[in-house]
Amino acid sequence: MTNSILINKKIKDYNKKINVSSDKSISIRWALIASQAIGKSKASNLLISEDVLSTLNCLKKLGIKVNLNKKKKICEIFGNGINGFNYKKNIILNANNSGTLARLICGLLVKSKNNIKIIGDKSLSRRDFSRVIDPLNKFGVNFYPKFKKKLPLIIKGTEFLRPIEFVEKIGSAQVKSLLIFAGMNAPGTTIIHAKKSRDHTEKFLKHLKIPIKITKKNSYDIIKISETKKIDPIDYKIPGDISSAAFFIVLTILSKNSKLLIKNVLTNPTRSGILTILKKMGAKIILKNKRLYKGEEISDIFIKSCNSLKSINCSEKYNANAIDEFLIIFLVAAKAKGCSYFKNLSELNKKESPRLDMATKILKMMGVKLYRNKDSIKIYGNPNLTLDKTYEVKNFHNDHRVFMMSVIAGLCYGGKWKVHNKNSIKTSFPEFINLTKKLGAIYN
Ligand code: S3P
Repeated sequence: MTNSILINKKIKDYNKKINVSSDKSISIRWALIASQAIGKSKASNLLISEDVLSTLNCLKKLGIKVNLNKKKKICEIFGNGINGFNYKKNIILNANNSGTLARLICGLLVKSKNNIKIIGDKSLSRRDFSRVIDPLNKFGVNFYPKFKKKLPLIIKGTEFLRPIEFVEKIGSAQVKSLLIFAGMNAPGTTIIHAKKSRDHTEKFLKHLKIPIKITKKNSYDIIKISETKKIDPIDYKIPGDISSAAFFIVLTILSKNSKLLIKNVLTNPTRSGILTILKKMGAKIILKNKRLYKGEEISDIFIKSCNSLKSINCSEKYNANAIDEFLIIFLVAAKAKGCSYFKNLSELNKKESPRLDMATKILKMMGVKLYRNKDSIKIYGNPNLTLDKTYEVKNFHNDHRVFMMSVIAGLCYGGKWKVHNKNSIKTSFPEFINLTKKLGAIYN
């Protein structure tokens, strides 16, 4: 079977209702936290994607019983309590493509008596791990080889864990979360001054009545987490992923005369920066049926096509809340009237691929006028943008979001596209291509 996709027709107008794949951040967090509870936790509508399956496999290697029904998307995890892992010597945990798994799980291994090797695929092995090593060293945890800052690495925990006070300056939810996990294991109280980022871990733990206190400041949160003795099991019905919905939101905005309702999406404000940005650009997006579920906001998202988009000078305060969505936002900027400016996006080049570089390459190939420097990009939009040439997208480090951005570009703007590495969608959004077909996309 070929691993590329050919597009040579724009999508026609549609008026549909869809569900997107379940939230990846929540699915991974549910599994990791359930592994620390005492007893059986159950998830329904779990995301069945490679990143989540890697998470379940790592937990199994750590001696956790996992029952998964892939077809029904139901999973049961039988936790043995905090640090209740029970594993053989010299095990290897393979996080494959998942940065969230590789980093968060380290927070749960801070008391490991034996060496545990953590490995990942080529893309993950390029990514920075000093953001994990440095704070965990302060807790007393060791990583080997010393001075190595990328996977593969060996983690060795300690019985003499000390609580720390740490300033998390990146705005990384992965770093914040692993510190919270480590803090649950350490005696006393760990204090994290965390630059704002998605707050699912905090919401999970608050819901479970774990001793966590959060004081919200303007751009930082002060998080105090005390040693945790017991976690109750947690059942969770996982909502849709806004990072997956994002591709369909933009497909609808950029297509003609279309309407779309995306049901049951997690719209936590620390995740939905894309909605704020697109609304500021003139997009017609309405959140319907808003409700709270275990502290998380869930909504149905209604979107209409828009043919009068405005440019944006995007405040960096939205960066963390839209960090996985910038590729697809750039496609909207390409059609907006005027020059859009996105800045201080150094984190974007540290994802599954160097995404700012990838976006620059693809937009240039599309003939979009832009100005790029190290961490920022100015995109000069053209409201009449249509494409009629041949475009090939390859060598993008197998990055699922680069693949999906390219497909959406072809479906909205036209031209003949060949996009390689279709299998990349299996990490986060295996239903992506089928859903575009449901809306009328035709591939050769
Ligand atoms: C994630 C946090 C973000 C995001 C990633 C998922 C999470 O990474 O890019 O896709 O679930 O915590 P950073 O925390 O490194 O910004």
